[in-house]
Amino acid sequence: MEAGDPAREAARIRALLNRHNLLYYSENRSEITDTQYDSLMERLRQLEELHPELLTPDSPTLQVGAGPKQAFAPMIHEPPMLSLDNVFDPGGFLAFHQRLAGLLSLEEEPEYSVEPKLDGVSLSLVYRNGVLEAAGTRGDGVRGENVTENVRTIRSVPLRLSGSAPSPLTVRGEVFFMLEDFREWNRCRAERGEQVFKNPRNAASGSLRQLDSRVTAERPLSFCAYAAGAPPPGIGDQRELLAALEDWGFPVRRETVFTRGARETEEACMSMERRKETLPMEIDGAVVKLLSMELRRLAGELSRSPRWAVAWKFHAREVASRVLNIRVQVGRTGKLTPVAELSPVQVGGVTVTSATLHNLDEVHRKDVRVGDLVSVRRAGDVIPEVTSSLTRGDEGRGEPFDMPSRCPVCAGPVARPEGEAAHRCINPDCPARLRESLKHWASRKAMDIQGLGDSLAERLVALGMVRTLSDLYRLEPEALAGVERMGRKSAENLLEQIDASRRSPLSRFLHGLGIPGVGAVTARDLARAFPTLDALEEASPEMLQKVDGVGPVTAAEIREFFLDPVTRAVVDGLRNAGFSPVEEESAVGAALEGHTVVFTGALTMPRDEAGALAEKAGAKVTGSVSPRTTLVVAGPGAGSKLDKARELGIRIISENELLNIIYKE
Ligand code: IVH
Repeated sequence: MEAGDPAREAARIRALLNRHNLLYYSENRSEITDTQYDSLMERLRQLEELHPELLTPDSPTLQVGAGPKQAFAPMIHEPPMLSLDNVFDPGGFLAFHQRLAGLLSLEEEPEYSVEPKLDGVSLSLVYRNGVLEAAGTRGDGVRGENVTENVRTIRSVPLRLSGSAPSPLTVRGEVFFMLEDFREWNRCRAERGEQVFKNPRNAASGSLRQLDSRVTAERPLSFCAYAAGAPPPGIGDQRELLAALEDWGFPVRRETVFTRGARETEEACMSMERRKETLPMEIDGAVVKLLSMELRRLAGELSRSPRWAVAWKFHAREVASRVLNIRVQVGRTGKLTPVAELSPVQVGGVTVTSATLHNLDEVHRKDVRVGDLVSVRRAGDVIPEVTSSLTRGDEGRGEPFDMPSRCPVCAGPVARPEGEAAHRCINPDCPARLRESLKHWASRKAMDIQGLGDSLAERLVALGMVRTLSDLYRLEPEALAGVERMGRKSAENLLEQIDASRRSPLSRFLHGLGIPGVGAVTARDLARAFPTLDALEEASPEMLQKVDGVGPVTAAEIREFFLDPVTRAVVDGLRNAGFSPVEEESAVGAALEGHTVVFTGALTMPRDEAGALAEKAGAKVTGSVSPRTTLVVAGPGAGSKLDKARELGIRIISENELLNIIYKE
């Protein structure tokens, strides 16, 4: 029927797909099967290929992603994307409420909305004539990154608005992972031998900032709207705004409640906190907003945050549990770490069964003993730790903890080096050390051998297939394929990856060796100063100390590492396995292409070196801040340049962030 008119057919399919997207993402239901959906999509793609003039900027076919780009263009936010002041308890909230009531000389208690504070990445969307025109990350609030292509791939972001949306329209909201989607996606990644993500927020941020939108397209991101740039005409309060946003096709969160007065609002926040673990996504607080747009206008805003809204942050979770045992774990450098084994408790949504006690001094300072009731904290992504013992006195308690004098894994001697808090197993052949060294060697910032995760490293050591690092490079496919849960194909893939790691640059090689005091950043600095392994091995402590981050202790560790017969043998073994690492210039990409950078304040590296590095990454480096400046790198003691940058709303970053951008780690 419509075969003769491709324009009409394309328009019809597009409308259908948009409608089904909306049903699916806003109302969580579908009227067609996945196969029907896919075939509609395929037909539209065919039509657009045959008739390129039919491709519209809101076509759902664009949601599968376009090819890679070099860097993101800046996007200016008008009005700026503000952040929120935080409160942590009823007292803090009451102060906010009273300030506001005083400011507005209110006769009656004001109404508020209480929304979940989604723990994701904020996003600004600009629509013109109902079509998505641009999408940007927050950046410094005034200038963010234009991530439009990536955002087009997020299925819950409408490409075309429904209803009678005003034009232009700026919508603000959060990009995040629904926990179920996050888990399923991680499960698939693990199955493919890819690295799994621990933290949905970081994963969302990384996914949104992919230079190749096809990568973003494969990740099940979600979007939720909670604000508009300026209140749209005819919208009097937040309740109406959320309803309008929903009419126009945006998902909004159902958990939002509307309250009147301080008491009710406080209760709503606390109730949100209690519900936190049952929600389908991670939240880190509640956002309280004055309901009325008119009152908001009267309250006004400060430069960074509005006076009419506040974030009620939930506490980093701390709970009590009983210490069942204190076990001692052996790390890569032989370090012994006491770990409390706990009766299982829920902390911040995860079951915790063990928590670090750091070292012997800490155990004594907190006086933690087996049998004690202790307080356990888990803040975000960090390893749970025991913060204090809730049991007091000596009566009926176990003995104070002491470090064993022999390594719990190899029974080798344990020593506590001068001036260190840590006890160490000093047997270089200790299997625990080997296992940890191997994990570290394969890790992302070292050799980045993706198929070699923690559990495989453990098995290889336990089976005696790897007795020293270089054994990795002698593994036979048959033997590897015989390892539990391995199989022929994955063994072959892994061997390819292991082989490729022979060509890693010196900086990764050095980091992988795990010399005490030499982390990824110092390894890079060392490799830049001594671009071959020979040059580094021959360097005197004085020469080594010229490198940033290398003091007398680390210099001595490096010398010791290359002189000690045991660690020497590891390095020689790797040489014999085909390693002759050098540092390549090309470690630096073009991450700063198009940027004009100004440095201010103290840096850890010499200023001219930092400048040269930024230039190598494509930036233009200038001495003073002007409207053309796009990036200011500020260190301690920064003065007027920093003020000027703030005034102009230019993105300000630290030296570390600069290095992260340049090396994209
Ligand atoms: S309103 C001026 N509402 O929290 C209004 N923000 O610290 C500013 N956020 O950058 C935002 N959920 O990324 C608002 N329901 C919500 C939110 C929310 C999460 C984030 C947002 C913002 C940060 C403020």
